[in-house]
Amino acid sequence: KQEPIVLGFETSCDETGVGIVQGHTLLADALATSVAEHERFGGVVPEIASRAHLEAMVPTVHRALADAGISASDIDAVAVTSGPGLTGALLVGVAAAKAYALALDRPLYGVNHLAAHVAVDELQHGRLAEPSIAMLVSGGHSSLLLVPDLAQEVQSLGRTIDDAAGEAFDKVARVLGLPFPGGPPIDRAAREGDPSAIAFPRGLTGPRDPAYDFSFSGLKTAVARWVEARERSGEPVPVADVAASFQEAVADVLTAKAVRACRDHGVDHLVLGGGVAANSRLRALAEERSAAAGIVLRVPSPRLCTDNGAMVAALGSRLVAAGVAPSAPDLGADSSLP
Ligand code: KG4
Ligand code: ZN
Repeated sequence: KQEPIVLGFETSCDETGVGIVQGHTLLADALATSVAEHERFGGVVPEIASRAHLEAMVPTVHRALADAGISASDIDAVAVTSGPGLTGALLVGVAAAKAYALALDRPLYGVNHLAAHVAVDELQHGRLAEPSIAMLVSGGHSSLLLVPDLAQEVQSLGRTIDDAAGEAFDKVARVLGLPFPGGPPIDRAAREGDPSAIAFPRGLTGPRDPAYDFSFSGLKTAVARWVEARERSGEPVPVADVAASFQEAVADVLTAKAVRACRDHGVDHLVLGGGVAANSRLRALAEERSAAAGIVLRVPSPRLCTDNGAMVAALGSRLVAAGVAPSAPDLGADSSLP
């Protein structure tokens, strides 16, 4: 018998994602984004994101079905991000998923956005080793997770106590006059810079600090102060060196804590996810430190690291395979889902 086909919806932030997955096979990953509409605000505006999801939803579903070469009646189950994320944005996806599940008479699975970021790796590298440590770093979250069983149990080990890693990239880019979202242009600028040019602070790395929590707001402020001082002195700002030194500070803290979480918990598999996992320096340093510690590192390709519908379908596929009970038909959106 063929494995079930799962339709997944992702609308927690500014990406309207509709993915279709069969087992661990990706059949379609259609995406619409309102990122350009948020650019002049320097961050995602919830009301704009919600409206954009509404407009993009049905065309994106049709595109996904066409890309997969199937019709809606071939869908066996529907999955949707029910949180965490922006409430209004989440509600659009939840409403759409419920409508398809009801109309097609198929089970509906509300899933956690963070667990979906972990699940997406299975589409590229097959079944996740369990337990694994997962590090999710994006514009909305920065978390270290212990994953004993992706379908049943995901534990939070730590998270950011202020800004998310991606938020720091976005804010530092703004200070440097680079476009939003700031991750890709900082990544590019850093290639020409010296990562040891400026010693920026590594947050929460003191001996008495929590081992798995992150803090990026002090780093962001330190970069802004450094750039302001430069501007006041009338000297040009060495954008590439600032970008490289900032990026190094982020990659250093993230990889050190992820490897430590693996060591402390006796886990030898690490998986990265979230938009910041697309960062070239983070990927290289994670590879280097994992290899040195005997850890097997798994990183999805950049396209699957950022928000998309395939990750939700991937987790839905896992839940169906594990025989997990579907969500109730009154499934809601929970912006602060733990
Ligand atoms: O996972 P994602 O698409 O959406 C959220 O759930 O937030 O992550 C978006 C974040 C943005 O802050 C963006 O600047 C960052 O990921 N990002 C990067 C890179 N590409 C995207 N950060 C660093 N380096 C990159 N290459
Ligand atoms: Zn995300």
